[in-house]
Amino acid sequence: MDCSIVDISTLTEAQRAEAARILREALPWTDFAEPGAAEAEVALTVADEDRSGLAALDGERVLGWIGVIETYSHAWELHPLAVDPPHQRRGIGGRLVAALEERVRAAGVITLYLGTDDETDGTNLYGRELFPDVLKAAAELAPTNGHAFTFYRRHGYEVVGVMPHANGFGRPDIFMAKRIG
Ligand SMILES: CC(C)(COP(=O)(O)OP(=O)(O)OC[C@H]1O[C@@H](n2cnc3c(N)ncnc32)[C@H](O)[C@@H]1OP(=O)(O)O)[C@@H](O)C(=O)NCCC(=O)NCCS
Repeated sequence: MDCSIVDISTLTEAQRAEAARILREALPWTDFAEPGAAEAEVALTVADEDRSGLAALDGERVLGWIGVIETYSHAWELHPLAVDPPHQRRGIGGRLVAALEERVRAAGVITLYLGTDDETDGTNLYGRELFPDVLKAAAELAPTNGHAFTFYRRHGYEVVGVMPHANGFGRPDIFMAKRIG
């Protein structure tokens, strides 16, 4: 799908409200669904000096957005990423990731990383005890009912770790990273 990519700080108030709605509706099982949480995330991405982001637009309409946090000197965290549900699987997420990588590479960053939770029974790690030998379980990661980790893998990100029970028993966070610089 054709879209333009702009800095999130250039969005109007109405577009920022749309970006918050998209975050809430794309990730309904997360804390972003709590009242005000998605709005706070958009505001933080715009205002915090260690954060920035990009939005995909069709004309004036927001289709999705991506953020980044300057966590280490040379490894930054991709967070968050959300595409409006009716517009998913049309290449918008891929465009946002590529544009963010380009921007972050230009800033001298070597590694871009992210955490993608399994709270939806989307992988073979869900509902299980992963201790001991967590890295063995991580190495055998596979999708079951569809999970965003396959999207990131397609874009060159590899699994670098797993946090067992991050969101409750059997609900791990899956860490992925890519060398971009
Ligand atoms: C994950 C997400 C950002 C991807 O953006 P997108 O615009 O839908 O992705 P693209 O169209 O660029 O790429 C689609 C490809 O990614 C993979 N993919 C995307 N979402 C997937 C999912 N939920 N399950 C499995 N594969 C997925 C597939 O390979 C897919 O190709 P296909 O449609 O031919 O099967 C988007 O679907 C989304 O916002 N999902 C809900 C929120 C989310 O999970 N965010 C990530 C949190 S870490």
